[in-house]
Amino acid sequence: MAIISLFLPLSLRAKSEEVKINVIPYPQSVTMGNGTFKSAGANFNCDQAIGSESQRVIKELADKITLISGKTCSFATPVGLTPSIAQGKMKGFIFLKNASYGPEEYSIDITKKKCIVQANGYNGFLYAVMTLKQLMPVAIFSDDLDPNQAFLMPCVSIKDSPRFAYRGFMLDCARHFFSVEEVKKCLDVMALYKINRLHWHLTDDQGWRVEIKKYPRLTEVGAYRNGTMIGKDWKSNDGKRYGGYYTQAQLRDVVAYAQKLGITIIPEIDLPGHMVAALAAYPNLGCTGGPYEVSTKWGIMDQVLCPGKEDMFTFLEGVFTELMDIFPSEYIHIGGDECPKTEWEKCPACQAKIKELGLKATKDHTAEQYLQNYVTARMQKFLNDHGRKIIGWDEILEGDLAEGATVMSWRGVKGGIEASKRGFDVVMSPNSYLYFDYYQSQNLDKEPLAIGGDLPIEKVYGYEPFEGMDASQQKHILGVQANLWTEYIATPSHLEYMMLPRMLALSEIQWCKPEDKNFDRFMTSFKAESARILDTLGYSYRKPE
Ligand code: ACM
Ligand code: ZN
Repeated sequence: MAIISLFLPLSLRAKSEEVKINVIPYPQSVTMGNGTFKSAGANFNCDQAIGSESQRVIKELADKITLISGKTCSFATPVGLTPSIAQGKMKGFIFLKNASYGPEEYSIDITKKKCIVQANGYNGFLYAVMTLKQLMPVAIFSDDLDPNQAFLMPCVSIKDSPRFAYRGFMLDCARHFFSVEEVKKCLDVMALYKINRLHWHLTDDQGWRVEIKKYPRLTEVGAYRNGTMIGKDWKSNDGKRYGGYYTQAQLRDVVAYAQKLGITIIPEIDLPGHMVAALAAYPNLGCTGGPYEVSTKWGIMDQVLCPGKEDMFTFLEGVFTELMDIFPSEYIHIGGDECPKTEWEKCPACQAKIKELGLKATKDHTAEQYLQNYVTARMQKFLNDHGRKIIGWDEILEGDLAEGATVMSWRGVKGGIEASKRGFDVVMSPNSYLYFDYYQSQNLDKEPLAIGGDLPIEKVYGYEPFEGMDASQQKHILGVQANLWTEYIATPSHLEYMMLPRMLALSEIQWCKPEDKNFDRFMTSFKAESARILDTLGYSYRKPE
């Protein structure tokens, strides 16, 4: 074949090279064939060994094609379907377990008569389905019957697996509250682009959003604030009581919904700073005893939890006990960012604790900094004793940090570089590339209000997580995450606008090998396919120029 193509006229060769697929994130290996496969009315056969969960996802695809094409796709789960049977006379979609694949790996081989999909685990089959849908006409994302639509797919062979195991997105539902329905809509688009972790920022100075039965005032009091500053006017207040929270039943429902989309939810309780909403509910947890008020303004607050009080640890353990029951995630995020020490310096209980623990200032850190390390270590031990691991913002690195913690690098990349050098696992989410609350263009009169920054999609796309790290550091990089803080984002459409299409660029950083990334190909695919998918699914997004 290669020899024949050498003799093709140049124009024809160029044309065949143009044939490509508009799949995002772009698969690792793509070999185009000739012709098309007709999905409408095709039989679906799944080897029983792939398991009932994977079968459910595949049956949903079969049912969807039936519904919108009007041509029935039969669905069967035979026992002992082997690659050689699949290669034989069988037609239609064939799904096989391939035990040699990684848990998220899949392959798709489409010829005119059949489409063979292989994977080894739930996420592998799920991602194969996501890729198949992107190979089909955009109508697959609609609910409208279109009897003329054959749902053709190009003949192609794809072999695919992710670069990073941790592919995250963080949503701040504390500064502004987003409904279960909107959170699910975010999960849907994450899954479509093979993002597998939702880091859910559930508590902050301006609101506590998670029901804790042992501490009902957290939501009775902490979930509501007496107004919100208007825009960037720090002296203003819109006078509207604002708030909301998720019940434990709702949280469990979201966890189950995410699981079906191959997404693990990592909850964050941000401590010991960013705790004013909790302090408003339980003032005895702070150094001064209050009174406190749920914050109506953004920023970093001096009022923080008091580690000098044993009751404060009892409180945190009570909160995390209920949280662990709701969220099965291996990782629990304990925050750790932006914790001023001004109150601890003056607090008799904190100072007594520093003395009791023998904490001493060093040339690099104050005794109060080591007191924060003590809080981190206690929460780490508590969570480890319950079979979980901690993640924290990169401030947890300052001073001492016990083995086994994972560091989320947000103040640029330096925290991740240092943490990996010190042997900690790292998730890279540098504000310099991956803060989706930053502006998408400097044409500010055309953009909705944002916190600041300058983060066009090209810049996001160009991020290389291993930069500045040697091989021994690179092996500590679990993955990459973008963060969407919502101080200035109050509505679902604004949220989606900030998230999209930058989330798609994120997906290629997380999924693709650096040599497979190509911004021009990505944007062409986005305009040709994904923009239309987002339109069909009803997302708002920033239209590229
Ligand atoms: C952060 O952006 N304060 C983690
Ligand atoms: Zn104190």
